[in-house]
Amino acid sequence: MPHSSAGVTWSPPLAAATATPDRENDGATLAGGRALETPFGIFYSPNITPDPVTGIGRWSLAELSRALRQGRSPQGEHYYPSFPYTSYTGISDADVADMWSYLQSVEPVQQPNRPHALPWYLQYRPLLLLWKLLNFASAQGPPQAASAPAVPWPR
Ligand code: HEM
Repeated sequence: MPHSSAGVTWSPPLAAATATPDRENDGATLAGGRALETPFGIFYSPNITPDPVTGIGRWSLAELSRALRQGRSPQGEHYYPSFPYTSYTGISDADVADMWSYLQSVEPVQQPNRPHALPWYLQYRPLLLLWKLLNFASAQGPPQAASAPAVPWPR
């Protein structure tokens, strides 16, 4: 996975060795900064260590779930599909919870995210909603309004 170091397997036993440097990319494991070259531009993987400022240390389980399965950030922004939430949308609650526990267990690394290098017309994230409407079917169903009744309204 691009957030991680090359050649290191994504598995819980790795938690003991999370300070493993990413030799290929000269960085720390899961601290991001790895370049993904695509026909649309270069995306840089973000820091997903538990650093509270530059990583995802302040995220709740629900926020991680929404990122992975709906492609939305805690602030409600849409993610680019270079983050494959299009595939992760189908993962189970138990798997998200396991990933959450694992991500919380790794060494926090203070490293700001590197901005993606994209043409100007792809830098406007609200347009990703249009892409999603055309290409993305969330396995979680459409977002529910907070005030939605718990039982169907009698008609
Ligand atoms: C289990 C595997 C993965 C997990 C838990 C994970 C987690 C995350 C999280 C939490 C974010 C949001 C970070 C933030 O907003 O600060 C993110 C973003 C991102 N991820 Fe991953 N990721 C995974 C796999 C991948 C893979 C396989 C790729 C690409 C090959 C990828 C590429 C990206 C990119 C490019 C972004 C930034 C998206 C944007 O700026 O819109 N990730 N990932």
